[in-house]
Amino acid sequence: MPAKYTNKLNGKRVLVLGGTSGIGFCVAENALENGATVIVASSRQESVDKTLSRLTTSYPDMPSSRILGHVIDLRSPDSEKSIIELLDFATNDKKDLLDHIVSTAGDSIPIQPLSAFSDAEVLTNAQRVRILAPLFVAKHAKEYMHVSPRSSITVTGGVNSYQPGNGWVLPAISGNAIDGMVRGLAVDLRPIRVNAVAPGAVWTELFQRTFTGEQLEQFKQKFAKQTLVGDVGSPEDVSEAYLYVMRDAFITGQIVLTEGGLLLAPGAQR
Ligand SMILES: NC(=O)c1ccc[n+]([C@@H]2O[C@H](COP(=O)([O-])OP(=O)(O)OC[C@H]3O[C@@H](n4cnc5c(N)ncnc54)[C@H](OP(=O)(O)O)[C@@H]3O)[C@@H](O)[C@H]2O)c1
Repeated sequence: MPAKYTNKLNGKRVLVLGGTSGIGFCVAENALENGATVIVASSRQESVDKTLSRLTTSYPDMPSSRILGHVIDLRSPDSEKSIIELLDFATNDKKDLLDHIVSTAGDSIPIQPLSAFSDAEVLTNAQRVRILAPLFVAKHAKEYMHVSPRSSITVTGGVNSYQPGNGWVLPAISGNAIDGMVRGLAVDLRPIRVNAVAPGAVWTELFQRTFTGEQLEQFKQKFAKQTLVGDVGSPEDVSEAYLYVMRDAFITGQIVLTEGGLLLAPGAQR
């Protein structure tokens, strides 16, 4: 009997915004291992080049036509134009339509006290990559994707929007806006499915950049202790949540939490 489950991404075309690092890189690896063609995109040429070389070294037998990369700055004020260029690149000018689009792209959001807020700009800047860019992707999705419940868009929120620490107002706003956005987009883009993954603390380059020196190990231990599983997440494990929502043609408008039981952990404090 032909495989019913393990071939679901075979021959599919998957675009990963933010696929050059951390969670997105593992989504790209996971999709490749499952038979997809993968296009990774992020803001720095250097990280795109490095990622293409990492992937071709890890999977030397894979045809180069299955591993593609493109540079795009999703923070730029005219990101809609760049997103259209990216979608043209990723689909060979609409000849090879996409099956799945994932965004794990994320720049740093200021963690700041309320006293530091003075104008709306900080709010707008904090939302460009995580909210505005996926909205523009969604706006053009039906021209560049197979319009089917087998197709999906998955964006990335964070469990910190349900349990923010001191000064985490901006990430909390961002995470909750993402939750609302996927519900709205799931309706507007039907039958294409739209979901979010909300990770807890995951051991990625972002984590390792946010906390440096001695702080890094201290925060790793602290976040690990706040979970039921007693550890921070690995991007390889968390990538499974994205693969799941790509494969299940019956899930849409949902937020999948992968957070080690943080929200259930007794007495968890941030
Ligand atoms: N790691 C965690 O603990 C954690 C927890 C909760 C939520 N999250 C969220 O999960 C997402 C992924 O996190 P991660 O830990 O995997 O982060 P990461 O390792 O820093 O990866 C972020 C990716 O986004 C790209 N990117 C950054 N700014 C961009 C821009 N302006 N335009 C296009 N691409 C851009 C980066 O590449 P370039 O540098 O080349 O642009 C990189 O590929 C983020 O939204 C993050 O907030 C992470």
